[in-house]
Amino acid sequence: MQKAWFYEEYGPKEVLKLGYFPIPTPQHNQLLIQFRAAALNPIDCKRRQRPIFPSDFPVVPGCDMAGIVVAKGSGVTKFNIGDEVYGNIQDFNAEGKLKQLGTLAEFIVVEESLVATKPNNLSFEEAASLPLAVQTAIEGFETAGFKAGQNIFVVGGAGGVGTLVIQLAKHLYGASYVVATTSTPKVEFVKNLGADKVIDYTKTTYEEIDEKYDFLYDTIGDCKNSFVVAKEDAPIIDITWPPSHPRAVYSSLTVSGENLEKLRPYLETGKLKSEIDPTGPYKFTDVIEAFRHLETGRARGKVVITGFPSQHIPSFKSSDNINSLPPPPHEMVSQEMSVY
Ligand SMILES: NC(=O)c1ccc[n+]([C@@H]2O[C@H](COP(=O)([O-])OP(=O)(O)OC[C@H]3O[C@@H](n4cnc5c(N)ncnc54)[C@H](OP(=O)(O)O)[C@@H]3O)[C@@H](O)[C@H]2O)c1
Repeated sequence: MQKAWFYEEYGPKEVLKLGYFPIPTPQHNQLLIQFRAAALNPIDCKRRQRPIFPSDFPVVPGCDMAGIVVAKGSGVTKFNIGDEVYGNIQDFNAEGKLKQLGTLAEFIVVEESLVATKPNNLSFEEAASLPLAVQTAIEGFETAGFKAGQNIFVVGGAGGVGTLVIQLAKHLYGASYVVATTSTPKVEFVKNLGADKVIDYTKTTYEEIDEKYDFLYDTIGDCKNSFVVAKEDAPIIDITWPPSHPRAVYSSLTVSGENLEKLRPYLETGKLKSEIDPTGPYKFTDVIEAFRHLETGRARGKVVITGFPSQHIPSFKSSDNINSLPPPPHEMVSQEMSVY
């Protein structure tokens, strides 16, 4: 059995409980991954608060993870046991339900196509902070058809997605000039991400900005107001649903290990950096506190979870035999409920 956070009803963060779930067996093309770190995303909160897409209770939340491959099913070609990997595990079936439980657990089985090799220079915590946010950030540029040499206005430069949009604009997409908004305490932080100019939205309104931009990338769903800074024919990307201005195009993410793999050179050279919210990383046991912080809407970069209960790597006799997994460590055998 493994320990996992779960909920059995929609509601505030207090519906989250710790319990035991079976360790899944990897099937064809699947890896069994033991987590070292995970990250929270606003979708984990929204999905817990109301039925955003069909889910069967109990739900184990969490999309982002970094960990170690501890077993693999038949047909796996890219990874071996012991490999350090990271990824966003959101994978929906034909009914629109996620195929597996989330990453606030100790283990998960996931299609090998969804994960990538963790760059050696990144810690597990840094790697776990990236997948969903960076996949979202990239998609916005692709949807907009952004071209090198154009300038960009980023609304929400300090958030999980915004921190990556700024870095991608500067170091991957060749933006000529990057402007981003944030509040007073985060102005220096956003400048250090590579923004050429930072607008403190507590002091300057969009209407007070004279320049117009080739691309408006709004990460906070404020397009109904921010659209005024976009040139007349400029693409406007909104990553929140529904977009709040008729000109705004909703952009979502493509979940794949391949798009993470393409970022490897930028991560290895430090051109693209993980930004972990300074109140964390939070311990696995402090997941509710981590959600509390994310839900303030003030996170700086990513809210990351570390200190997963079992930090040992189980050994396996054959590539797809998980019967040799050790029993839960002694401290896990407590009064907490067993879910299945
Ligand atoms: N479409 C998709 O596939 C997709 C994927 C990921 C996320 N999303 C959505 O995108 C949104 C952002 O996600 P996230 O992970 O970046 O969230 P996040 O990390 O929670 O964003 C927090 C940041 O938002 C900033 N912020 C809040 N109000 C602001 C304002 N008026 N102007 C400028 N910045 C402001 C805050 O900075 P200050 O403290 O300085 O205000 C804070 O740093 C969420 O609604 C999320 O659900 C969509």
